[in-house]
Amino acid sequence: KGDPRLEAISAAIRVVPDFPKKGIMFQDITTLLLDHKAFKHTIDIFVDRYKDMHISVVAGVEARGFMFGPSIALAIGAKFVPLRKPGKLPGKVISESYELEYGHDRLEMHVDAVEPRERVIIIDDLVATGGTLSAAISLMESQGAEVVECACVIGLPEVKGQHKLEGKPLYVLVEPS
Ligand code: PRP
Repeated sequence: KGDPRLEAISAAIRVVPDFPKKGIMFQDITTLLLDHKAFKHTIDIFVDRYKDMHISVVAGVEARGFMFGPSIALAIGAKFVPLRKPGKLPGKVISESYELEYGHDRLEMHVDAVEPRERVIIIDDLVATGGTLSAAISLMESQGAEVVECACVIGLPEVKGQHKLEGKPLYVLVEPS
């Protein structure tokens, strides 16, 4: 709060009403990616926060966590682990399902991607219900890794995502404008 970089980030996110369906105010981070300064501020804030926390794994959630996670991983000297939608990873995977508004979905991770006791941060563009991040936490913990924090560019205030995150801290940069 009070950081002018956060205002620039907020201003660079386009809000698209009624996408992908009526009543949803879609938070479009592709316009943030087009704004070099605001995009760099986003990565810098995460890098400053995590660079001295002995993080060895940055895990990104498909698809939009892939747009932020690798830059952070490179800057803090960590590896990047993609958490993918079902059927995309060729190696041995573990799988975790989570609830959607209608039905459920799954996230998968290669079992050899992390070692026990590695310190992990999980990155996504947005947290709404927290269901996706909870599944990501479960995947990491099933391998004995330690999830230090979940980090998102945007956090919806009206949702109780934080309750769902298995007690893990959640760090968000902005709320929808
Ligand atoms: C969106 C968003 C998060 C998730 C947040 O992804 O990028 O991953 O929903 O929602 P939750 O907190 O309620 O779980 P989406 O499922 O649209 O997938 P995509 O990024 O592959 O389009």
